[in-house]
Amino acid sequence: MEKEQLTQLLREMTRNEKLGQLQQVTGDFFSDELTEATGPLSGNNLTEEDLVTVGSVLSLSGAAAAKKVQREYLAKSRLKIPLLLMADIIHGYRTIFPIPLGLAASWQPELVKETARIAAEESAVSGIHVTFSPMVDLVRDPRWGRVLESTGEDPYLNALYAKSMVEGYQGEQKTALQEYGTLAACVKHFAAYGAPEGGREYNTVNMSERELHENYLPAYKAALDAGVKLVMTSFNTVDGIPATVNKQLNREILRKDWGFDGVLISDWSAMKEVIHHGVAADERDVAQLSLEAGVDIEMMSFCYHNELNHLLEEGMLSEELLDEAVLRILTLKNELGLFENPDRFADEKKEKEVVFSTKHQEIARKAAAESIVLLENKEEILPLNKNENVLFIGSHVNSSEILGTWSWKGNPEETKTVAEILKAKQAIEQTQICEIASPFVVTETELEKALELAKHADKVVILTGETVDMSGEASSRSDIRLPKAQRELVSRLRAVNPRIVLVLFNGRPLALEEVSRDVQGLVEAWFPGTGGAEAIVNILYGKAMPQGKITMSFPRNVGQVPLYYNHFNTGRPIDHNNLENKYVSKYLDVENTPLYPFGYGLSYTTFAYKDLQVEKTVNNKILCKVTVENTGKRAGTEIVQWYVRDKMGQVVRPLQELKGFDRVFLEKGRAQTIQHEFDLSELAYVHTNLTRSWDTGEFVFMVGGNSEAVLAVNLTI
Ligand code: NOJ
Repeated sequence: MEKEQLTQLLREMTRNEKLGQLQQVTGDFFSDELTEATGPLSGNNLTEEDLVTVGSVLSLSGAAAAKKVQREYLAKSRLKIPLLLMADIIHGYRTIFPIPLGLAASWQPELVKETARIAAEESAVSGIHVTFSPMVDLVRDPRWGRVLESTGEDPYLNALYAKSMVEGYQGEQKTALQEYGTLAACVKHFAAYGAPEGGREYNTVNMSERELHENYLPAYKAALDAGVKLVMTSFNTVDGIPATVNKQLNREILRKDWGFDGVLISDWSAMKEVIHHGVAADERDVAQLSLEAGVDIEMMSFCYHNELNHLLEEGMLSEELLDEAVLRILTLKNELGLFENPDRFADEKKEKEVVFSTKHQEIARKAAAESIVLLENKEEILPLNKNENVLFIGSHVNSSEILGTWSWKGNPEETKTVAEILKAKQAIEQTQICEIASPFVVTETELEKALELAKHADKVVILTGETVDMSGEASSRSDIRLPKAQRELVSRLRAVNPRIVLVLFNGRPLALEEVSRDVQGLVEAWFPGTGGAEAIVNILYGKAMPQGKITMSFPRNVGQVPLYYNHFNTGRPIDHNNLENKYVSKYLDVENTPLYPFGYGLSYTTFAYKDLQVEKTVNNKILCKVTVENTGKRAGTEIVQWYVRDKMGQVVRPLQELKGFDRVFLEKGRAQTIQHEFDLSELAYVHTNLTRSWDTGEFVFMVGGNSEAVLAVNLTI
């Protein structure tokens, strides 16, 4: 449809029809199919008549169901404006990939894009038009349960992943939404939802405006630059105003400064919750504030529905504001091609072929292997040898708690467990499997059996961690250690057999200080998804190389958080050569450093860095060179990380900021000189006037295999 036709359509719409477009409800309003609820389900007084005008639906899928709902709806709709079907496709539709924090550990935006493309294709043929992804909230506190949906603590990496996910879902910008198998993406949660105080879900966010611009906004902006079609507001306040009705955020920054003309949708009942926040007295206030702030769609609360008409009648709001919002929604429907083809890509036959296809499962296995991070490998306990007698034990050894949260179409029944993979692999001869039924209790009988088997094993592999519902939305934890029963199991097993490898399933960096001492091998498997079990077995037996690196710092204990690599020096920095000095910025009972720093991850081989050289080139670039050598016994891939410190700025600069990285594959014994060029603009930061620019002066350029192990060279620019 041409733009002019859309405007004409808008003109023909009644007030009620317009208001309907602004309402989003769950699929169960339209279908008996089960849909997923992720928030309160109260307060609607929609009539049958209202439902004929509702503009969008969340969490309804399946080609047949989608087509049926669309058909029945259009049959009743006066102007034949199709419904928009949205859903949370976060790390896969039915082929489930590792949780985003796991995917991020691959340091492979292209791979992440591929997983998003597959998720889009599976969803699109199943009738979905929009995914509520990517979540690009920067996060520094692992107590917050939603760290699993993020890509970590670094603004640069988060922005790269934001772009790759949007392109994966929507197709490249020029052809966005035109290609078969695409979805419109919705970046969330605008803004700064990842910084709730104390890591407590839905809690207050408090930060300076400059900090917001410097670290938190870039990833949303990167999604916009990649052409993202929707933005979701967040539940939290930003500078004392709930984000959903925050004009500064939504009108000034998002629409005016960044030129976003797509659809702004509230989070689930986030509009009505503005009353709880205490800046609106009632639904009427909320409706007024939200439309003024530019919110187009209200998800699962009903303030627009109940109050907008009165406000418009009384002249408290202009029809123009309403029309703007409706036009944005119609435009999205048009860009998705729904007016011409309301089924879009929904297709039962394709659905059978494409969803959970062998090809997609293969990519899921690859993604899982690339996301796994080897945290400890003392005395080279890994890889295992297929002739060793290995005891596999724990709550996750034969459990389908592998998909992680936000995998509503992922089917645990078709997900292989580690025990099943081991049994199927004939090459692995001598394994014993010992299941522990619950991660929270180890019974006396289970323990006796475990100890007896462990005594006679060459090595013990414990598979355990969080249950799926211990991370994700509304799953903040104040104690981020492994559950007590598991810590005790590790230490009891260690007493009879010290050759222990611990494989962890979890959605957040855990505080692992205690268990990391007790084990020789430590493998972070996250919630690895459909292909997780096979990927884990392949890594454990050395068929695949561990090469992931964490994108969030792992604290020693929870008292250290928030803990992140790109922190300030402070006026009284700790002097590691003089730890006796009391009046410095430190704790009395724990080191300042994390247990595992940002960017850290081991491999079955080792890499050495030497000869870092940094120079300014004639064309005003910074050219860095370093030699990386594979000093171990196997070929392997290293993620070479480039960090910069600006020694003095108008505002305090972090001790390190990631500015780039390179992936290098090296045969054993081989060395290669890696070159990385920076543009001076990459040294820019947000000044007090909130604009980005760079200062002349002294910089430190660093390179290494993680944020702590770096070579450094100073350069004055
Ligand atoms: C609430 C969550 O915060 C958001 O991320 C999600 O997309 C919506 N619910 C819809 O399920």
